[in-house]
Amino acid sequence: MTTITVALEGRGYDILIEDGALDRAGTLLAPYIRRGRVLVVTDGNVAAAQLGRLRAALDGAGLAVSVEVLPPGEGTKSWAQLAALTDAMLARGIERGDHVVALGGGVIGDLVGFAAAILKRGCGFVQVPTTLLAQVDSSVGGKTAINSAAGKNLIGAFHQPGFVLIDPTTLDTLPQREVRAGYAEVVKYGLIDDAAFFAWCEANAAALLAGDPAARASAIAHSVAAKAAIVAADERETSGTRALLNLGHTFGHALEAETGFSDRLLHGEAVAAGIALAFRFSACAGLCPPGDAARVTAHLRATGLPVTLADCGIDADGATLVAHMAHDKKMDGGRLPFLLARGIGRTFLAKDVALADVTAFLDEEA
Ligand code: NAD
Ligand code: GLY
Repeated sequence: MTTITVALEGRGYDILIEDGALDRAGTLLAPYIRRGRVLVVTDGNVAAAQLGRLRAALDGAGLAVSVEVLPPGEGTKSWAQLAALTDAMLARGIERGDHVVALGGGVIGDLVGFAAAILKRGCGFVQVPTTLLAQVDSSVGGKTAINSAAGKNLIGAFHQPGFVLIDPTTLDTLPQREVRAGYAEVVKYGLIDDAAFFAWCEANAAALLAGDPAARASAIAHSVAAKAAIVAADERETSGTRALLNLGHTFGHALEAETGFSDRLLHGEAVAAGIALAFRFSACAGLCPPGDAARVTAHLRATGLPVTLADCGIDADGATLVAHMAHDKKMDGGRLPFLLARGIGRTFLAKDVALADVTAFLDEEA
């Protein structure tokens, strides 16, 4: 069992990582449950795969459990589902001091977190992430959001969970494509500022993706510790530290937009290709040794993740992809900051990238 704390004044919280923790949820969640009753929000896939374990644990602790099962998929991060969920929370008499349990991937975590942020001006919530992406990234740090017609994650709030319970064995039922997509967010931590962890990833990715418990636990604990430190240093992404977590996301966002934010390209797959593009762009700009860009590309490709536009099934030109980037919520005063690299483990925020250079680079990549 590993416990990592997000050190935030007045709203710090623990993240517990343990194989089988879901089956001990009755005990582990007890401090966050009042009046002997708890609301669990999940999606249909997770309900089929993992809800039974959580229910059994909560029932076993004598708790009255009610469940909201939402449709799976990115479309659930919508105004309509937010309205339905907040109505359900009000109907169940959720109070400010209560904690709602989010059981699922980043979609459920982001939606429940946002509902909790606005219900009665803020109630509590607990994250029980069940995808690799959610276990290493989205369940930690308090970014909550829904999508709007204008783009992804444009309506949201910072609202930290009260507790995060990570049971890596929940990944046993996650489709392999989703596991691989989540792995892109693991590698990211090595590429940001931890070259030794990237080397660990190169040596252990195969075991991790095959579900080896030791490799999985190490990767999750290392990633969560890295994210917790970044969030504690820059909770609201104001100093530039937290922005480093967006490595691969600006290029990736354009790829997701071009593929219609659909199952054609999962978020983590777009991040993987986006990371490879960011490193190759950095090498083209003379910032990063070409050997490092090649090493990053080779590793991601070896895990089966997309690393080129063609791998993503995209044949758009540079101008089209850069036009998608203009809708990115990170636009700042008409300029788009990019996460670039001086090498593996040496990511930095570049605020002066000429979009014409990005366009030309993407035309070369096409
Ligand atoms: P997801 O929540 O859609 O889950 C992926 C799929 O796996 C879904 O079909 C889901 O039903 C299924 N699933 C989940 N757990 C399962 C399990 N254990 N067994 C079987 N099936 C399971 O997707 P995701 O990749 O977890 O999250 C993507 C979302 O996260 C995006 O909306 C993205 O914007 C958001 N995100 C948020 C942050 C943040 O900091 N808040 C960070 C990264 C990504
Ligand atoms: N996933 C990016 C962040 O939490 O800031």
